[in-house]
Amino acid sequence: MSPGYPVETIIEGKASLLVPRLDPGAEEHIQKQRSQAPVFYNTVMKTNRDTAVLVLRAYQSKKSRNVQVCEPMTGSGVRGIRLILETDKIDDIVLGDLSPSALALARENAKLNGVRDRIKFRELDANLLMALHSYPFGRFDYIDVDPYGSPTPYYDTAIRATKNHGIVAITATDMPPLCGVNARACIRKYGGRPLQGEFCHETALRLLVSSFIRQSAIHGYASTPLFTYYADHYVRAYFRVDKGARRIEGLLNQFGFIKYCPSCLHRFPSVENAPERCGCGEEMNIGGPLWLGELSHDEFLGVMIKEIGNASHLVGTKSETIMNLAKGEIGFPVAFFDFDKICKLVGVKSVSTEDAFSAIKDAGFNAVPTHYRSRALKTNASIEDLVEVFNGFKNIG
Ligand SMILES: C[S@@+](CC[C@H](N)C(=O)[O-])C[C@H]1O[C@@H](n2cnc3c(N)ncnc32)[C@H](O)[C@@H]1O
Ligand SMILES: [Zn+2]
Repeated sequence: MSPGYPVETIIEGKASLLVPRLDPGAEEHIQKQRSQAPVFYNTVMKTNRDTAVLVLRAYQSKKSRNVQVCEPMTGSGVRGIRLILETDKIDDIVLGDLSPSALALARENAKLNGVRDRIKFRELDANLLMALHSYPFGRFDYIDVDPYGSPTPYYDTAIRATKNHGIVAITATDMPPLCGVNARACIRKYGGRPLQGEFCHETALRLLVSSFIRQSAIHGYASTPLFTYYADHYVRAYFRVDKGARRIEGLLNQFGFIKYCPSCLHRFPSVENAPERCGCGEEMNIGGPLWLGELSHDEFLGVMIKEIGNASHLVGTKSETIMNLAKGEIGFPVAFFDFDKICKLVGVKSVSTEDAFSAIKDAGFNAVPTHYRSRALKTNASIEDLVEVFNGFKNIG
């Protein structure tokens, strides 16, 4: 088949795919080329799709029956095709897209991978497609919402089209509002105020999670975050949706605010948003309301990591690194610290990550690296404790 534009064959996971060929000579314009391509395919999002494979594998490992899957914004079909090839026990998979060119390429890719008969293609608006499946025997076990920008316009129908105890995955690529560059847009879309500063990617994740939990509550569902992360300028969250008012209350009780002083880096979670002056005299910034609970589910993430053993092509991938780091972060207080920010505050030259971890641990605190970035940590030490530890580096060298 010739789609009428240049294509190339690539391999991702266990799939061989035809995707629009971008001009490799124009590396600096690659993003513009990608956004103007007749069908969307972004190789960077492989990590996102790798995690989808592992979430679905972990979900299936607890099921004795086949599962139904929907990807209402499929683009080239890469994600849906990979889910068929790299997981077991998929009964039905419905792939949709509003773009006829995307669906034509997705169909071609399905043929290329020998899975054409296992997919129903729908040229429909994502909300309409999911609404058409919002009845007792039409719902899915797993829905993957992967739009341009914010996923919030798709929450309602995704929740309604998911089975009780099923999974909804959402990606948000609109990082500027979520990280506080446009706070009003964030409040409009996600219902909470973002925080600028070194841990903005964590607050972005917490705002994404809280917006989905709140919208699920309206439909009588408790959406528990199973695995969430930030990478490559997007945030991603996987939820299990369970019916039940008591469970919803349990989740809503974990909402609150983060108060942060950009001057001395002091931060703490708070149940109220009353203005507050920091001990250093500065007015504290307030983010939220947002999710203050765990960002990943220890047991479920453990099963995902174990599943890499049954999906050996994912060993050593970025998704594995992110999952291991995210698992280590469970149980630590909200808002990670940035080594370089602390060095600057204390007035010491850059300290190696290794030395910083040893010094913090020697002082009696717990500390772990984060998945958000390499020179950052989660710890039970306060900023005052960290300042004291980092002051110790002043006398060295
Ligand atoms: C970010 S891309 C999806 C990428 C794909 N999920 C992947 O993993 O490669 C978003 C897709 O949504 C489609 N789209 C945009 N608005 C839509 C809508 N309202 N309903 C259905 N599809 C839509 C676009 O044509 C595009 O293919
Ligand atoms: Zn302060």
